[in-house]
Amino acid sequence: MSVVLIVDDAPVLAEQYAYDLKRLGGHETLAAGDGREALDLLAREAVDCVLLDLEMPGMDGFEVLRQLEQRGIKVPVIVYTGTGNYDRCAQAIRLGAVSFIDKAEPMERVTQEIANAVERQRLVREVAALRRDLDTDAPLVGSSPAMQKLADAIGRVAPIPSPLLIVGESGSGKEIVAREVHRLSGVRGPLVAINSAALPHELVESELFGHERGAFTGAVTLRKGAFEAAAHGTLFLDEIGELPAPAQAKLLRVLEQRQVTRVGGTRTIAVDARVVAATNRDLGAEVAAGRFREDLLYRLNVHVLAVPPLRDRLSDVPELVRHLLAATCARFGMRPRTLASSAVECLMTYDWRRNNVRELRNILERMLIASDADDMGIADVPPEIRDESAAHRVGTGATPQTFHELKAEAERQIVIAALGRHDWHITRTAEALGLADHASLLKIMRRHGISRE
Ligand SMILES: Nc1ncnc2c1ncn2[C@@H]1O[C@H](COP(=O)(O)OP(=O)(O)OP(=O)(O)O)[C@@H](O)[C@H]1O
Ligand SMILES: [Mg+2]
Repeated sequence: MSVVLIVDDAPVLAEQYAYDLKRLGGHETLAAGDGREALDLLAREAVDCVLLDLEMPGMDGFEVLRQLEQRGIKVPVIVYTGTGNYDRCAQAIRLGAVSFIDKAEPMERVTQEIANAVERQRLVREVAALRRDLDTDAPLVGSSPAMQKLADAIGRVAPIPSPLLIVGESGSGKEIVAREVHRLSGVRGPLVAINSAALPHELVESELFGHERGAFTGAVTLRKGAFEAAAHGTLFLDEIGELPAPAQAKLLRVLEQRQVTRVGGTRTIAVDARVVAATNRDLGAEVAAGRFREDLLYRLNVHVLAVPPLRDRLSDVPELVRHLLAATCARFGMRPRTLASSAVECLMTYDWRRNNVRELRNILERMLIASDADDMGIADVPPEIRDESAAHRVGTGATPQTFHELKAEAERQIVIAALGRHDWHITRTAEALGLADHASLLKIMRRHGISRE
């Protein structure tokens, strides 16, 4: 079902159209008696298509088209005219109308034109969303209060060349944050990533600092290390908590002296790579347990970015779902698929404790494989998630947050879930939430940076 706005100065005609569109196309209709009223309605209602009369007293159809363009309102407009003047229709098309029909044409033609226009608009939106999601430079997804705070902090520390420590639970997005820091740092060189946990202990030092030819058995050629490879760029040391003790000592020296010596060598080489380290461990506790050097921790934690766990920003779930679904479908070469609002809401009440965004991504991937539905519903959500989500209806995080932040996040969650339930229909959502009018809802949405895209 689509919402069609009929703009006509003759109420009898508008009523007849409304009646026929409901009967033939199952469309819901809104009516405006002149151009100004039409623009007011378009500013606050989620209209899918406009049927616009060209000849109206006051603001005519042409002016409405100009205003839509000027205000950036993207809605397909079909113009209709009783005069049968082809030139005027052509002029309307030049102003952005998608097609025109004559008032004398049968209603079936009109509903067909509306269906075409709505479908075309849907495709345009989908392509735009896919483009955005495929763009590898796309910033971090999520505009919850917690993520806005993180984005602010990233913007502040990115240009500073000192070491940076990123902390956060497994799968919360530390690597994405590191890439964002690199992107915003303005450095010329590359981002080189080293995962200390994935390397055998005896190779860590040679990977980081390089080795001279013949430094050890198997070192047949000289090898430049990650510090040199990241010259003028960023060196991302992932899982820093796993670094073996000898490598910790050497790393500390490199950070202090800003120069490396390759394994088996004596020559010092200046390094200028900015070091960004990440860990999901509590490094303070690791220091207390004697597994991490305290002096190294103090070198690294001058600037700390804490990535909030997903359960503290559940209002990001709908946005993440859209992003992850689009990215996964593209990666699998599948047609684009969506998640019904009931299923999204279920994921918004799940207690994300194990693997945060990675767990969400994996669940969506499983759903895409297991279901054939274009719009996957609650029945497609894996049962263990469904059950746990039902048992856990309140999303309170373990991380201490201020009263203001908790309140803002709760408000955002409520509004996003309600909008999802009402197909982003502003008036209906405002009513369901018991707000005074649509303007109050729009105000809240603006405050939280909530938009459909
Ligand atoms: N804010 C986000 N926007 C988009 N995708 C995200 C976001 N956060 C995480 N992801 C996705 O979730 C997955 C896990 O993120 P990432 O690898 O950055 O987590 P991590 O904190 O480094 O995890 P680990 O501790 O296991 O190394 C990745 O596929 C990443 O693309
Ligand atoms: Mg990681």
